[in-house]
Amino acid sequence: MTQVRVDAISKVTGAARYGTDRPAQAHAVLVPATIGRGRVLSVDTSRASAVPGVLLVLTHVDVEPPGFLMTGGFSFQSLQPMTDDRIAYRGEPIALVVAETPHAAAEAANLVTAEYEEEPVEVTLDAGDRVRQPDEPSVGDPEAALAASAVTVEGVFEHPAQNAVPMELFGSTVEWSGDELVVHEGTQNAGAVRGGLAHQLGLDPSRIRVVATVTGGGFGQKNALQSHIAPLAVAARRLGRPVKLTLTRQQAFHQCSFRPATRHRVRLGADATGKLTAAVHEVEQQTSRYDLFPAAYTELTARLYGVPAFHGPQTLVRTDTQTPGYMRAPYESPAAFAFEVAIDELAERLGRDPVEFRLANDTVTDPLTGQPFSSRHVGTCLRRGAELFGWDRRPPAVGTGVGFGVAIGAYPGHVSPAVAHVRAGADGRVTVAVDGHEMGQGIRSAIAYLVAGDLDLPVDSVTVVIGDTAVAPQHLTAGSWGTASALPAVQHGLQELRKKLGTAGVGPVDVAAAVAHSGRASVTVEAVGLGPGQPPAALDRSRAGTPALVGPVYSGFTTYSFAAHFVEVHVEPTTRRVRVPRVVSIADCGHVASPVTAASQVRGGVVWGLGAALRETVEVDERYGGFVTSTLEDYPVTVNADVGSIEVEFVDQPDPLLNEVGVKGLGEVSLVGVVPAVVNAIHHATGRRIRHVPVTVADLL
Ligand code: MOS
Repeated sequence: MTQVRVDAISKVTGAARYGTDRPAQAHAVLVPATIGRGRVLSVDTSRASAVPGVLLVLTHVDVEPPGFLMTGGFSFQSLQPMTDDRIAYRGEPIALVVAETPHAAAEAANLVTAEYEEEPVEVTLDAGDRVRQPDEPSVGDPEAALAASAVTVEGVFEHPAQNAVPMELFGSTVEWSGDELVVHEGTQNAGAVRGGLAHQLGLDPSRIRVVATVTGGGFGQKNALQSHIAPLAVAARRLGRPVKLTLTRQQAFHQCSFRPATRHRVRLGADATGKLTAAVHEVEQQTSRYDLFPAAYTELTARLYGVPAFHGPQTLVRTDTQTPGYMRAPYESPAAFAFEVAIDELAERLGRDPVEFRLANDTVTDPLTGQPFSSRHVGTCLRRGAELFGWDRRPPAVGTGVGFGVAIGAYPGHVSPAVAHVRAGADGRVTVAVDGHEMGQGIRSAIAYLVAGDLDLPVDSVTVVIGDTAVAPQHLTAGSWGTASALPAVQHGLQELRKKLGTAGVGPVDVAAAVAHSGRASVTVEAVGLGPGQPPAALDRSRAGTPALVGPVYSGFTTYSFAAHFVEVHVEPTTRRVRVPRVVSIADCGHVASPVTAASQVRGGVVWGLGAALRETVEVDERYGGFVTSTLEDYPVTVNADVGSIEVEFVDQPDPLLNEVGVKGLGEVSLVGVVPAVVNAIHHATGRRIRHVPVTVADLL
């Protein structure tokens, strides 16, 4: 059976309903602060209020702060705009205008003016207020080992801030139905939106429903409550009608989370036989003035190879921006960029082939814990990738204008709790309601094909309901744990269903006949999925809308997904423009639950990596705060014309320990390693060892 994306038709025909497809008769626009930091002295709303059609201008909302997701709260940041006179970052909202039409609201928003008291800003990694993280991944004595190494390399790598720019802009439709609040919102975390609004507005969570049937790309930027939703709820209640808001792209750059800028100092050592002896990876990462967005870069790089001595201290640098956050492979992609470019240089210094050098330093043991990986097929990824790519045709000389580059990636295997309700109907249809958000990665397809395959039903007899707090707890879908968390719960549900229907434990089920035989109109079961060793109490956190994760370190094993990427670049001799005619990527994500959407995930990761390596940078304005690149014109992402051939294969070996379905995560690992593979290929093509991204024409002239 050729598997297709089950929601493809609804998406391409426009039948799929996004958060702001919901009709509303009132439209909101936010007014951003025009200073980088300081205080609002006064806001003049008189001209805005006079615009025909304007219903309401809010300059203050009386709500509780939502709390930062990373410290037990609900929001991407702890700060709630419009609750006091402080301005923490350029673009922070100072007013919300609501009108009968979007145009009237936009016109009025432009007429809101304010007087400010301005303060100087610090927005770069050189800012002075620094916080070293208490936990430092550490093994052995790397300084001594470096001193004793036959060969060492050292480099400082700069990775800029980036923005996820999901195709669906941030948007919400908020409506009160009596005492019940309903939020239609493109989110990865309907549970946090519900829990956070309950906290902010003083409501019982049972009176709030959050619906995210489809999300048009999240990538971590939609992983929590957004700051604009509580003011919308206040406005909707005051007006007694649904209110809708869509942020502009520029507002999303200034009001939502982003990938923070990082600086990495990497030192590596090897002995004369080419065995890694030591690695020190020091990281500085931007955070906001008021939240400590944690850094977790070196947890990855400690585990990429069998390095016997490692140290990975990480320092946060407070800057005057909104709180940065998770963006696809948030730590792993920048970390792998720095580390894998350094590895390439070390292989070169040792006179070793980069693929063979990596194979020689592979490990089956997690260096940080000493316990085995539950599965690790890095070697297979590298060997199969080299074969498919034709690595043996790599030009022996550096600087020919044609470059072959390679790098590996890894991503931690987390799991969150999930509840599944499985209902079999007399019509033979099966409906699954479970924890999960469909943001394009294909989780709805993976669930549908699991059910169809298990019971031997046509996939169109399966309905999957996800992203709706009314049907099941909706824990954050992120960190590539969505499928690995939902599928085991659904699998348990199918086993319970078979018991309740009295059918065999495996094999095809005639659902209509079995339901008829039960004498009921339908049969429903509930099942729970938990990570290895995860206590059932984790479900309480999930139900409350706060993160409830386990992994990647479990009792007796450590779980990571892995990938190897092979990239060919052509550097045009005169213009020095870099083209990427082909990429080969091999991923180890355990059992492949949905081949079509899995391959699409990897292609998406590769396309993203090409953007990160060659195009994407959020430029900060050091004088005035804020970001000077904030539209898709000045924040160019990779488009079809930039992409050549991308060949994807999977190891497709079930992980034996993480869950009974054998799946690990995939979405993020597909990006990890693409950036250094491109940068390493550029070195091979040009002889230039570039230690920052994006690599531009100016770097190669
Ligand atoms: Mo992902 S950056 O954890 O949504």
